[in-house]
Amino acid sequence: MNIAVFPGSFDPVTLGHMDLIGRAAKIFDHVYVCAMVNSGKHPMFTKEQRFAMLRAAVEELPNVTAELWTGLLADYAKAKDAHYLIKGVRNGTDFDTELGMAQINRALEPTLDTVLLPARTEYLHVSSTMVREMVTYQRPLEPYVPAAAIQIMKGW
Ligand code: PNS
Repeated sequence: MNIAVFPGSFDPVTLGHMDLIGRAAKIFDHVYVCAMVNSGKHPMFTKEQRFAMLRAAVEELPNVTAELWTGLLADYAKAKDAHYLIKGVRNGTDFDTELGMAQINRALEPTLDTVLLPARTEYLHVSSTMVREMVTYQRPLEPYVPAAAIQIMKGW
């Protein structure tokens, strides 16, 4: 069974993430989407909130499981018997970042490879950073955030 991990901060999950998760779910037998801690970022949502939105967003996808993990990504992948990490790339900056992280993760766990999926054109401008601006200025989130995640957010 080919198992992959799609990790991220998901602060919050976006339609761009959902497109990548859906595509990964077609390539792999099972995909674990995992809300993690990026020590370089100060999230708007707590890790529990980020996970709750992510879990609601992927609920309908049969071979996708959402989890929360606060340790190393390489350790999580090993625990899940996953040999592939999935990352999305929108531009050269994303590519440079992901290339560096792929080297680190492979050094930590030599059986772990990283698969980079190019973002689709319609999601090139969508980022969690931009969504957080929309949240701050109380603008509509529907064009950028999955409906299930918006529902969860409205409950807070
Ligand atoms: O959505 P992001 O912020 O680009 O995701 C980055 C993330 C969370 C995948 C990365 O920071 C990460 O893997 N964090 C877990 C800790 C870890 O394994 N660090 C070493 C790899 S860089």
